[in-house]
Amino acid sequence: MGGRRWQRDDVSEMAHRIVAIDGPAASGKTTLARRLAQHFQLEFLDTGLLYRAVARRLIEAGQRFEDAAAAEAAARAITLAELDPAKLRSEAISQGASRVAVIPAVRAALLELQRTLGRVGRGAVLVGRDIGTVVRPDATHKIYVTASVEERATRRFKELQARGVPAIYEQVLAELCQRDARDRSRAVAPLVPADDAFILDSSNRDADATFEIARAIVAAAPRGQPGTAAGPTPIRQEQP
Ligand code: CDP
Repeated sequence: MGGRRWQRDDVSEMAHRIVAIDGPAASGKTTLARRLAQHFQLEFLDTGLLYRAVARRLIEAGQRFEDAAAAEAAARAITLAELDPAKLRSEAISQGASRVAVIPAVRAALLELQRTLGRVGRGAVLVGRDIGTVVRPDATHKIYVTASVEERATRRFKELQARGVPAIYEQVLAELCQRDARDRSRAVAPLVPADDAFILDSSNRDADATFEIARAIVAAAPRGQPGTAAGPTPIRQEQP
């Protein structure tokens, strides 16, 4: 099958890869990143779960998200074992995550954990907001996944419905806008595409079509190495 052939060729010919996937909330970046990691047999880290786990610790301890000292202590105590997506999905945790994410000491505390991944072995796919800009500016491949805010709200709304969580579309949209605004405007590591990221708009594409574009990018030689144009992968802003 075509799919199997790709998989074997992609993996057998591959040099070490660090793949940075960034983008706003509900852009489909995590699904895409997980699939890339599986396809290329790379380690995988959803860095959003780190910020979510910090928020969860604060909620459980009855502490405020704005309490920088408590948030930093929570960030320093996080272990990979507590990054269970099923326990970190609530809206309170989503909003809390983006509020603790503005605290520089929290970001600094989580940095090393993110940087150790993929140092040895084949490499890793990291997904988040600042992977290509701050965590791994040296990533071999950078993709910034985006979609219109209405499309993202529709996806998140359907996802909630599928999980049996009562949801109102307008509220989901408002919460996404609020979180995007906070993520884009913060002073440290704001949500912004890296200069050398490929901008992948998933608005009018399904998961398979989005994956196919990303797969081809990651299968290509690392940025600046033989097999690609010299220098970083140029930004290709897609037509809407
Ligand atoms: O899955 P979704 O896109 O809704 O959110 P997430 O990736 O789990 O991230 C939750 C929050 O954590 C975001 O709104 C950001 O404020 C923060 N975050 C961050 O600041 N930096 C990262 N690398 C990842 C997440």
